[in-house]
Amino acid sequence: MRQLFGRVFMDGKNIYTVNSVSGTKIYGERLIRKDREYREWDPTRSKLAAAILNGAKTEIGENSIILYLGASTGTTVSHVSDIIQKGLVYALEFSDTVFHSLLKLTEKRNNIAPLFADARKPENYRWLEECDIVYCDIAQPDQTEIAIRNCIFLKKGGYLFLAIKSQSIDVTKKPEYVYEQEKDKLEKAGFTVIETINLEPYEHDHAMIIARK
Ligand SMILES: C[S@@+](CC[C@H](N)C(=O)[O-])C[C@H]1O[C@@H](n2cnc3c(N)ncnc32)[C@H](O)[C@@H]1O
Repeated sequence: MRQLFGRVFMDGKNIYTVNSVSGTKIYGERLIRKDREYREWDPTRSKLAAAILNGAKTEIGENSIILYLGASTGTTVSHVSDIIQKGLVYALEFSDTVFHSLLKLTEKRNNIAPLFADARKPENYRWLEECDIVYCDIAQPDQTEIAIRNCIFLKKGGYLFLAIKSQSIDVTKKPEYVYEQEKDKLEKAGFTVIETINLEPYEHDHAMIIARK
């Protein structure tokens, strides 16, 4: 196993996180037992894994406090939970069908705080503490605007991870045009864009934009 950063490792072409809850799978992923237990991280099911495999340089620290918008059943959140052993991830989701699975995940992982809320209404969870990272993967046409509004919780110098699905924003435009357009919106809102990572071949017409406040 080759360490990429913190609790994230590679072996050959595969990426892994150190499993915080030994013996437990979340979405049918492979568990590998070596010096300790590793969970394979599927880049076709997690844009964060795809971004890391495609060379994202921005790391997530072990003590990070993260606001994660669009947690769904917790596939990516579970790996974030492995990485931030001493931190906390606020996993926000507004669909009750998937929120059930997310709640199950939190039974064994005490660094995930599930939040049943609409990311369009950050005023409803204004009690939230300052975060090191806001991660947004809600696949909505106005998701960049929603992400920016949620950055009221982002500390100065903190990072925004924005997963862009170009088809959700504008099916008539080329993905590269959409990525540039969303990047412009962030810069106009005062962010410095650090990197834009194309997620091919794991996710078609997707990119991860990482920006700093
Ligand atoms: C692409 S999926 C997220 C996948 C997840 N990030 C992962 O990697 O495991 C998008 C999720 O965003 C949620 N979502 C969409 N709009 C939302 C909103 N306004 N507030 C909260 N969640 C939202 C959807 O219900 C869906 O579960």
